[in-house]
Amino acid sequence: MNSHFEKHILCIGAGYVGGPTMAMIAHKCPQYRVTIVDINPERIALWNSDHLPIYEPGLDEIIHSARGRNLFFSTDIEKGIQESEIIFVSVNTPTKTFGVGAGMAADLQYWEKTARQILKSAKSDKIIVEKSTLPVRTARAMERILFSENNGVHFEVLSNPEFLAEGTAIRDMESPDRVLVGSRQTEKGLKARQQLVDIYANWVPRERILTTDIWSSELSKLVANAFLAQRISSINAIAALCEKTEADVSQVARAVGMDARIGSRFLYASVGFGGSCFKKDILNLVYICRHYGLDEVADYWQSVVNINEYQKEHFVITMLNAMFNTLAGKRICLFGFAFKADTGDTRESPAIYIAQRLMEERAELVITDPEALTNAKADLKLSDGDNVRFVEDPYEAASGSHAIAIITEWRQYRELDYERIFRSMVKPAFVFDGRNIADHRRLFETGFNVYPIGKPALTHL
Ligand code: NAD
Ligand code: UDX
Repeated sequence: MNSHFEKHILCIGAGYVGGPTMAMIAHKCPQYRVTIVDINPERIALWNSDHLPIYEPGLDEIIHSARGRNLFFSTDIEKGIQESEIIFVSVNTPTKTFGVGAGMAADLQYWEKTARQILKSAKSDKIIVEKSTLPVRTARAMERILFSENNGVHFEVLSNPEFLAEGTAIRDMESPDRVLVGSRQTEKGLKARQQLVDIYANWVPRERILTTDIWSSELSKLVANAFLAQRISSINAIAALCEKTEADVSQVARAVGMDARIGSRFLYASVGFGGSCFKKDILNLVYICRHYGLDEVADYWQSVVNINEYQKEHFVITMLNAMFNTLAGKRICLFGFAFKADTGDTRESPAIYIAQRLMEERAELVITDPEALTNAKADLKLSDGDNVRFVEDPYEAASGSHAIAIITEWRQYRELDYERIFRSMVKPAFVFDGRNIADHRRLFETGFNVYPIGKPALTHL
């Protein structure tokens, strides 16, 4: 293609990863033309509008700086493939829901369709970059498909997993702890790797760009998520012990985390981790271990997921026990539905499980969240008789409730006027703080019965 741009980059998959990562490349590198394509025309229309399909702090600004200049969103995948030398693939790789490996293995159907589409449309050599999170050795499968036609076009497959976290994606991409690029150790592999390194080197210090073999790169992504999730399950398991022994999990986490070898981050006890990645990637790791006959290793990682399931149920049981063993007909207000603060994403949010369990107990639900109510409505798949309301204003949502359950650590939930809220609630009024963000002593003094995670409850009963 004739144009004044130095490189033509394509990304297939305009989701939570494809959109922000490519917007960042376009923003940092005006000399490259970056196109993002997707099979979902509504999603592309939203990326081209003033209402982006995802909420991510700082994303609007970088999209506006680059869109129409060197950043383009389109549904024309074939043209995109033909016009680009470097193709990132960032399609979804959810857990399989059917057949062999259902509930564990990665569902690679979107991935494989993309590979076939690249093979069909490409007329010249391409570098294919795995951006999606994939089972180790998926690059080999990609290569097998791409080389199946022997049509004279060379494809070089690289692995470049993404480590951004939602809610802090812009900061994470602007100043990443590391960028990881895995390649074949052949002459062509190393040359392709250098091209990708050169893109990131526009803003990432060289010493933070790690290059490895392709299998280590693929596996590192699964392992990073498994380690992060393991820390949360570890502290949540200890939170349960704290509740029995009158120890305080925040103080334990502080004391433990001050050991430089352990570190203080990701030690916040919670109602359980959510998000589209942790559970899916650990299950994928477990599946691979079982495949290779490493049953003890598989069991070890499976336990990280098991503790997370336990934690969500434990939260519901705490509510039930505290509220005189019946929730039927009681109004419970959920503060937050997103899986974490600063995102509207609700995928695998503990709120889904908790809402469903509370409905089973025949509670009446009022759900509030500053960004996630549309997704919450879709997740709960409500039918006519269900007693669930969605209310944007937290004061209105809490009014008339018997209990508040804080599910998401939105900053605004720390700063509410809880005295006003207390006055509007049915007594005795309860707060179950699934994130330990409220001022528990103050809530107690206001009149609430307060149930934090991993700390003694403060009750008037
Ligand atoms: P997503 O569901 O938000 O986006 C994927 C997009 O790919 C969708 O818009 C879908 O329509 C599109 N798509 C599917 N098949 C396609 C095809 N054949 N052609 C064109 N488009 C197609 O998913 P996501 O959250 O962006 O995750 C993408 C990948 O990145 C996953 O492998 C995930 O594990 C990984 N990842 C996600 C995060 C995160 O925070 N969400 C972080 C790191 C890595
Ligand atoms: C995660 C990884 O952090 C990121 O590197 C990877 O690319 C994608 O998966 P994400 O799921 O977006 O990112 O958010 P993250 O900040 O990791 O939080 C995941 C879940 O763990 C959230 O539900 C969060 O609230 C919870 N969490 C996190 C805790 O319960 N306690 C903590 O101490 C930290």
